[in-house]
Amino acid sequence: MSKKPALPRHIAIIMDGNGRWAKSRFMPRVEGHRKGVLALERVVKHAAERGIAALTVFAFSSENWRRPAAEVTALMKLFAAGLDRWEQPLADAGVRLRVIGDRTAFSETLNAAIDRTEAATAAGRSMQFNIAANYGGRWDMLQAAQAAAAAGELTLEGIEKRLCARDDGPVDLMIRTGGERRISNFLLWQAAYSELYFTDTLWPDFDGASLDDAIDWYVGRERRFGMTSEQVTSIG
Ligand code: FPP
Repeated sequence: MSKKPALPRHIAIIMDGNGRWAKSRFMPRVEGHRKGVLALERVVKHAAERGIAALTVFAFSSENWRRPAAEVTALMKLFAAGLDRWEQPLADAGVRLRVIGDRTAFSETLNAAIDRTEAATAAGRSMQFNIAANYGGRWDMLQAAQAAAAAGELTLEGIEKRLCARDDGPVDLMIRTGGERRISNFLLWQAAYSELYFTDTLWPDFDGASLDDAIDWYVGRERRFGMTSEQVTSIG
């Protein structure tokens, strides 16, 4: 094993800055979200092309319901429309989509669109693409712990295998756009050893080259997992 890590297996992205992107152009916030969807499409395509195994993006947190009703509705519409549009291209590219989060709050129509897209892409093996919607990291750990306890398996492994993104392993690289430096209750369990990458770039401006910058930064990091630098080097 070399000292420097290879490509990140699992990348997580907190897509922040849509509102500010729109505001700086005197546009309504929803226009920023619309451009944010385009950025997401670019990034999914680029991540798959680069051979990333899993990509998880934060589309809607459990706290985002507090936003103005019109913005929440617009986000849900963009989400449903995106699912319909992505179904075929994702399936063609071998990208498997999963929506993670508490789906009980979504409309029947949205849940049906989610089911359809998940089913249509279920055979994909090139990249796992998770959209976190009505998701919170504490909620995820709680539901996993409750399920583990019910199965009499309240252990680290028992919890881990019941998390929403259970098949995708720890997050190697967590990216947050838009200048804030917080994890905001995203994949808390999987972020235990993540490398954290913060950029001022607003999400609608993020593209394949921005993702490459983050990956290059990651590849240059030394991951020690609690060991000393000398130990990590000698394992090689
Ligand atoms: C953060 O920007 C972004 C969100 C809360 C939503 C993220 C949504 C998308 C990128 C597009 C929608 C994608 C799907 C799958 C629905 P912000 O509004 O918090 O920006 P601000 O911090 O500048 O106000």
